[in-house]
Amino acid sequence: MSAHTDAVGVDAGPCPLMPTYGPPSVMFVRGEGCWLWDRDGTRYLDFLSGIAVCSLGHAHPKVAEAVAEQARTLCHVSNLYATEPQMHVARTIDRLVGGPPGQVFFANSGAESNECAIKLARKWGGPGRYTVISAGRSFHGRTLATLHATGQTEKHEAFQPLPEGFRHVPWDDIAELAKAIDDTTAAVLLEPIQGEGGINVPSDGYLQAVRELCDDRNLLFMLDEVQTGLARTGRWFAHHHDGVGPDVVTMAKALGNGMPIGACWAQEAVAAAFKPGDHATTFGGQPLAASAAKATLAVMEELDLPTRAAAAGEIMRSSVEALDGVASVRGRGLLLGVELAGERPAGEIVTAGMAEGLVLGTAGATSLRIAPPLIISDDEIAHGVAVLDKVLKS
Ligand SMILES: Cc1ncc(COP(=O)(O)O)c(C=O)c1O
Repeated sequence: MSAHTDAVGVDAGPCPLMPTYGPPSVMFVRGEGCWLWDRDGTRYLDFLSGIAVCSLGHAHPKVAEAVAEQARTLCHVSNLYATEPQMHVARTIDRLVGGPPGQVFFANSGAESNECAIKLARKWGGPGRYTVISAGRSFHGRTLATLHATGQTEKHEAFQPLPEGFRHVPWDDIAELAKAIDDTTAAVLLEPIQGEGGINVPSDGYLQAVRELCDDRNLLFMLDEVQTGLARTGRWFAHHHDGVGPDVVTMAKALGNGMPIGACWAQEAVAAAFKPGDHATTFGGQPLAASAAKATLAVMEELDLPTRAAAAGEIMRSSVEALDGVASVRGRGLLLGVELAGERPAGEIVTAGMAEGLVLGTAGATSLRIAPPLIISDDEIAHGVAVLDKVLKS
């Protein structure tokens, strides 16, 4: 038996999964709200929500019903044809992004949403203008192009040669960004708050300065809101905290509350660079995924989820900040990076948390990532923080 099968005690025989994720420690079989159950019936409080995906909690009845009803009605047609859920979700995204009217391309994941943005930047830039500048420590996906956009060179090494046309500059440094622009530059691609890189919030005014620089140099200002978008940080989109209007916004994770769907939104004048045949996907925004997104966005609006995420985020932040063993807490809303005191390895705390029934993530070697469902109650926050306290003291 491989490490995978040993760890979760699944079936005998070699593990059929490629070892890209390391051995899983648990097999989950059921979820409800902020709670997960493993195959032995043990219950876990989910402080990670599938890495900022299940913002409405697990098995939300309205999303489940929408998907079931859609499955009974129309599972799939080609993107050559219109479907109602897709149109509805595109309009809702455009309204929630705000600002000048835009158009949407639907994808299946965050990386694919960013691929669309990168291709759009190249098409918009025209011949010779193709370079996308992104930030050190950024994360934009694992396809070859989005991997190169990702500003973590250690992740590039094994996969050379990567597609050309990417350059990285230090995060949160406007002077270095200005210096990196040349005649080949088409766009700047940033996360408004870096997620995988450690939950790094930029200085006040940085994103505004980037917007101005892009205007001055005639570049697209593209924001990757795959992790931060759709209420996670206490606003519909994290860039709303900064009062900037990007040209392109990508999103995915929370959009389908667990059904795979991503989107690349662009201002109409930018989207017009694409012509039929320039980009496509079989499944992107297909009816099942789009019906999940339609229900998810409706419930998010009904609950005014950004407001709840902001309030719950304050409670979470102040409770976690007060714990022994916590050096500092970064982030906004319910996307928090917890820097552990004494450079304690975050992976150890995640493992210990799991053993105590608390699902946590890491954001770098010495930071925990806390990104629970946004519907989390005050009592559930208190319960999870008490478990974390116990784990940090052990
Ligand atoms: C900011 C950001 N962009 C892109 C991605 C890639 O998304 P996916 O894993 O859905 O391809 C992620 C995933 O964590 C992300 O956090």
